[in-house]
Amino acid sequence: MSDATKVSVALGARSYAIHCGASFAALPATLAPLVRGRRCAVITNTTVQPLYGAPVQAALIAAGATPHLLVMPDGEQHKTMATAERVLEQMAAAALDRGSLVVALGGGVVGDIAGFVAGVFMRGIEFVQIPTTLLAMVDSSVGGKTGVNLAAGKNLVGVFHQPRCVYINWSTLQTLPAREFWAGYAEVIKYGMIADADLFARLERETPALLRAITAAAPTIPNVVGSIIECCCAIKARVVAADERENGLRAILNYGHTFGHAIEQLTGYGTYAHGEAVARGMHAAALLACELGLCPQALVQRQRALLEAAGLPVRFPALEPDQVMAAFQHDKKTSAGSVRFVLPRAIGQVELVNDPPVAALRAALRAAQA
Ligand code: NAD
Ligand code: GLY
Repeated sequence: MSDATKVSVALGARSYAIHCGASFAALPATLAPLVRGRRCAVITNTTVQPLYGAPVQAALIAAGATPHLLVMPDGEQHKTMATAERVLEQMAAAALDRGSLVVALGGGVVGDIAGFVAGVFMRGIEFVQIPTTLLAMVDSSVGGKTGVNLAAGKNLVGVFHQPRCVYINWSTLQTLPAREFWAGYAEVIKYGMIADADLFARLERETPALLRAITAAAPTIPNVVGSIIECCCAIKARVVAADERENGLRAILNYGHTFGHAIEQLTGYGTYAHGEAVARGMHAAALLACELGLCPQALVQRQRALLEAAGLPVRFPALEPDQVMAAFQHDKKTSAGSVRFVLPRAIGQVELVNDPPVAALRAALRAAQA
């Protein structure tokens, strides 16, 4: 008997299931209808391959596929066109064709690049996501955003390409460094803030025990993590089904990201994990909402308490305000000439605000840096 659950991403003919469970036991049966008789490229990295490459390859063979393992170096700095080109050449050398399938095994970096090469190889072949970080499980593996970075900025090249299925085995989080787990948890808190007050309250109750379990010398992943992941996936699935190409609603997933991207850009990518920048960004966004009279101070305090309970930083780095304001212009390019902020009204409810007054932005920034 399996305790796995399924969440559906409803996109008509391109709909797919997110399988969420605590093992790879159901992987062969899940993949069989997608892979039988086909060549597959399992794209992973040097860290994840020795941990989970063997069970995934075995599952693919049991499902009737011929897997080729393509191992890329680990790290955001390798999420580039150069890596994508190397992987594409390896796919061609392995004689993959238009009927072949890509399997992304790893965190968001592997998932983004594997999805991208699947989206462009022979004008697009199918792919499957097997995420192994908390961030990838709750966010990047779902929704079909794929891509690579340019020197000019993050994720500047990419395609929307939905996976055929997402297979989450959350027991793989056992080997994830604690810092990466908590960085992903910032995105979990984000889901509570943008869409689900009950999830937020549940996180308030569960976080202290989770912190003890995850930061222990030999971490065990409590079952509650599985149901929290499922809850986040259900929210993301709903948002993506309503607005696949981010013409409106999907932008709420960027809560904390306008400030967060400025932090990442100005401190050099990699100084802070993405989730750590988002945690700081959510605090700054709540302060801005308060400054604009959209939400009470109590909301700022409640969000701050949960972020801090998860060991996440909230204080905005001591960056020059003028530099931060200039960094917002970078986001402007992606939102039709406006600098767009996702701001909370209440726990579980946000709204989009374009071009807030500069004085309010500066005041929020001062408060976030205090
Ligand atoms: P990551 O992929 O770099 O993984 C973090 C680290 O954990 C890496 O060193 C990785 O090798 C290692 N790792 C992965 N799984 C492991 C496991 N089970 N055990 C031990 N180590 C493991 O980082 P991430 O936080 O997963 O993803 C960040 C990337 O995701 C960024 O490039 C970001 O742009 C992208 N992203 C994409 C979307 C989207 O919608 N496509 C959404 C959010 C973020
Ligand atoms: N992570 C933001 C999105 O998928 O739209």
